[in-house]
Amino acid sequence: MTQDELKALVGRAALDFVVPGTVVGVGTGSTVNCFIDALASIKHRIAGAVSSSVQSTLRLQSLGIKVFDANDLLSIPVYVDGADEIDHRGFMVKGGGAALTREKIVADLAERFVCIADESKLVETMGRFPVPVEVITMAAAQVARRFASAYGGVATLRAGVTTDNGNAILDVRGLSITDPLAMETEVNQWPGVVTVGVFARHRARVCLLGTAQGVRTIDFDR
Ligand code: A5P
Repeated sequence: MTQDELKALVGRAALDFVVPGTVVGVGTGSTVNCFIDALASIKHRIAGAVSSSVQSTLRLQSLGIKVFDANDLLSIPVYVDGADEIDHRGFMVKGGGAALTREKIVADLAERFVCIADESKLVETMGRFPVPVEVITMAAAQVARRFASAYGGVATLRAGVTTDNGNAILDVRGLSITDPLAMETEVNQWPGVVTVGVFARHRARVCLLGTAQGVRTIDFDR
């Protein structure tokens, strides 16, 4: 199976986790696009969606799925999103599509994070994929220096990218993330950091992994 076929497979499989009559949390990216397309087939059975990016909002609306404002929701049962890397504990690196801040906001509303990914995303130790960090532009150089001194990481500005929130993205290479919770906690406190793309506090509870043998379900709470 091609990578696109694996993405379509897990996008459809995630429908099993949608709770009828509720608002579904929807992430961002090429795997999520497959989920959104599948979600359209059951749109009359859900109240609608809450979206983590302008890109996903437009796709949802084009398929006739109502999009709610996150501020109007107390909580949602499920958030479905992809990942750039996921480890064996459900910790993730996210933000390859620059949507990490809104992704964390919607994940925070959700009782359960369901990650959908092809098997190339499952890793022993995260950090091979450059860790995205949304920053206020005037803090970019200082945050880059902090990554170098604290973690030996090399941060570069993602050229030509402004997030949906009007900020910049730093991509940090050369990290080996052995303690995702500690890294997320520390980096979140650096002035000018909006969101670090380490999802430890908002880790996945379930991962639907697309493999050549079909969908492998990993339940991290077991
Ligand atoms: C978007 O900002 C990211 O967090 C995505 O969830 C991640 O990049 C996965 O995207 P793909 O499904 O396109 O690989």
